[in-house]
Amino acid sequence: MTTTRHGINWDKALQLHAAERERFIAARPHSQRLSAQADQHLLFGVPLHWMDDWSTPFTLYVKQAQGASFEDVDGNRYVDFCLGDTGAMFGHGPAPVARAVAEQAARGITTMLPSEDAVWVATELARRFGLPYWQFAMTATDANRFALRWARAATGRQQLLVFNGCYHGTIDDVFVDLVDGKPVQRASLLGQVYDLTQYTRVVEFNDLAALEEALKDGQVACLLAEPAMTNIGMVLPEPGFWEAAQALCRRYGTLLIMDETHTISTGMGGYTRAHGLKPDMMVLGKPMGGGVPCAVYGFSEEMAKRAQQAKREAVPGHSGIGTTLTANMLAMAAMRANLAEVMTEQAYTHMFALAEQLAAGLRAVIARHALPWCVTQVGARTEFQFTATPPRNGSEADAILDSDMEHIIHLFLLNRGLLITPFHNMLLVCPQTTVEDVARLVTAFDEFVSAVR
Ligand SMILES: Cc1ncc(COP(=O)(O)O)c(C=O)c1O
Repeated sequence: MTTTRHGINWDKALQLHAAERERFIAARPHSQRLSAQADQHLLFGVPLHWMDDWSTPFTLYVKQAQGASFEDVDGNRYVDFCLGDTGAMFGHGPAPVARAVAEQAARGITTMLPSEDAVWVATELARRFGLPYWQFAMTATDANRFALRWARAATGRQQLLVFNGCYHGTIDDVFVDLVDGKPVQRASLLGQVYDLTQYTRVVEFNDLAALEEALKDGQVACLLAEPAMTNIGMVLPEPGFWEAAQALCRRYGTLLIMDETHTISTGMGGYTRAHGLKPDMMVLGKPMGGGVPCAVYGFSEEMAKRAQQAKREAVPGHSGIGTTLTANMLAMAAMRANLAEVMTEQAYTHMFALAEQLAAGLRAVIARHALPWCVTQVGARTEFQFTATPPRNGSEADAILDSDMEHIIHLFLLNRGLLITPFHNMLLVCPQTTVEDVARLVTAFDEFVSAVR
């Protein structure tokens, strides 16, 4: 009897997978050799353990990446729709950033003192995002960690609230899930020795009643959230959700921290600006320096006052906020060039048009094959999901994730010179992505579905 999974003939999919693995191996002898060598001195054979979780039979090694494409060490070329999972959302190695980095490197990289660029960058961030004060970090993970500390320090409250299925980097506090309606520490965490549920509450996205219930004892310092969830597959806010959620946070004295690390795909000022939201703090990372490690977080006028007061009133000494290389001159030069010349209105206009083309193309294939799948979009970020009805919250989104299925599709696309984001089905377009690139992706997606339907 034939097994069907998400509308796909699973037996055919497994046969196809075996053939795709052979095809991948045959065309990548150099990557295979490097992978074998890497096993000797890299834990799990990779620089970071989850690089072992891609869909490929062995690690794919990159020779160079430029604009919307990259080349592997065997000379195979790819159009990149993963774009470093947002780190290269404005293209690989943008020329203005590469130039600024080279010039700055010759003039010094890090001093523990600011360069002039710090003033320019903070002024530009305030103009774009509408928050008047800014601080820096090396990664969005760190920026979230620091924002959380400021929020707890400013409010004198200990509790954090997050949405079920969230991801805000490897900041410990957020790894609490709702299991049968109860908060449970994520079991996969390594080396976690204290009970995260003591200080972290969790509710479903789009559930205002649960949100109010979690806030109403007045003990929650902040709600840390993405305006649209993007890490468990995409989950969009329902109309009016954020306006009401924001009002609830205000009523109960809880600060709202918007993590726009991924939703910066919405436009120049992020989802927050596009939808007129007024968070107390905002976090941005990954693409801010064109791929050079750096992140930023902003404070409202009121929050800045409270944060400064908390610091002044604290005992002198370590605050637990910041790292030595944070706000180094190289990162600042990269950010300045990126904000001035790369993350522009023009770039967004191009990306939006292509994302529309991509989403429409994928929807047409899904409709033609009558698949029970859907396509979700947040500006330049598009995702296909294995459900006919878009998920409303983290539990619904989690229930439709299927890593076996994703692996087969991702490998099929990779063998046709197309890379998409691992761990779910997200696709990004950048200023150098072309109409032809998108058409190629849609055609290959159609070929895949035709082969297994
Ligand atoms: C919404 C969000 N915030 C923060 C992070 C952490 O970014 P980084 O891994 O660069 O620290 C991620 C990473 O995927 C993210 O998706």
